[in-house]
Amino acid sequence: MPTYILGISAYFHDSAAVLLCDGKIVAAAQEERFTRVKHDAGFPSNATRYCLDEAGIELSDVQHIAYFEKPLLKFERLIETYLTSAPRGRKTFAIAMPSWIKGKLFQKSNMAKIFRDDFNDPDAGNRMVFAQHHDSHAASAFYPSPFDEAIVLTMDGVGEWATTSVSVGRGKELQRIREIRFPHSLGLLYSAITGYLGFKVNSGEYKVMGLAPYGEPRFADLMEEKLISIADDGSFWLDMRYFDYVTGLRMTNKAFHDLFGEPARTSESQLTQFHFDMAASIQKVTENVMLRMTRALHAEFAIDNLCMAGGVALNCVANGKSCGTATSRISGSSPQQVMQAARSARPCWPTIVIWTPIAS
Ligand SMILES: [Fe+2]
Repeated sequence: MPTYILGISAYFHDSAAVLLCDGKIVAAAQEERFTRVKHDAGFPSNATRYCLDEAGIELSDVQHIAYFEKPLLKFERLIETYLTSAPRGRKTFAIAMPSWIKGKLFQKSNMAKIFRDDFNDPDAGNRMVFAQHHDSHAASAFYPSPFDEAIVLTMDGVGEWATTSVSVGRGKELQRIREIRFPHSLGLLYSAITGYLGFKVNSGEYKVMGLAPYGEPRFADLMEEKLISIADDGSFWLDMRYFDYVTGLRMTNKAFHDLFGEPARTSESQLTQFHFDMAASIQKVTENVMLRMTRALHAEFAIDNLCMAGGVALNCVANGKSCGTATSRISGSSPQQVMQAARSARPCWPTIVIWTPIAS
């Protein structure tokens, strides 16, 4: 009897479903393709139905239903962030709490109800499993890859706590070995500048990448001097005095706007050379982090295969440079030469290594 696994991503952005049969992808779809609601965050009922129909099965034939993150761990981050920054952040907390209390805290029972009512499967809730956000990302890149062994680098805004993680995949095993935690996030830095440039966060990042070639990265050094400290191995630390996303309702604050000498651009207003240059600058900083990190990982593990996942890995320009320029150079160099090259790339701030090791 074949083993079916249904994967669900929902209630954040770009809800989607995927169906695997004996480890092979049978069908996958994003909910917005059916509802025509851009970035639809609702439960992906249409996408799930499509996947089941493609396989010619019912939900009751599916042995495991995997959800893409652990809601309670995410809630823990929210509470812990509030407690460490209170009384700052009370507005954000007051806005976030009702939706958690009304629904997000009870996602398992809410989804079980949908499976029971819409898919005629009262037992589905008992077959649900919850994976950590970055493990879901890493699995999505490693398992469909052609590699038996690979380093898996996941970079996004934030999952539960992790914003960047390194895993090693070997055969069927995928083990996370270290991570960088919220609020230090390359994805949120990129999103902060996306918002500053007048685009929608978690949506307009591709526009920033597209604007970058029209500008000069004249703010990149300032960004690396003030906003982000990048260590030799690509790990990084953000100076949260310039950002509002931990406790406020915006991504950037007055200190950030003063640093660059311009207020945040309002949506649909005129784009100027300043905006192009900001886009070019954050793109260069992003590439610096990714190049340094991928080179250092190759030097440390001497594994030639690299899988990348997460929203930052959707930055195909940075990807191309990491996987093309970096790895082609790496493949011809000893690990020591590669590490040396990474170190001499730019003088850093005093090295702040903030990797958190994951106990095995
Ligand atoms: Fe993510």
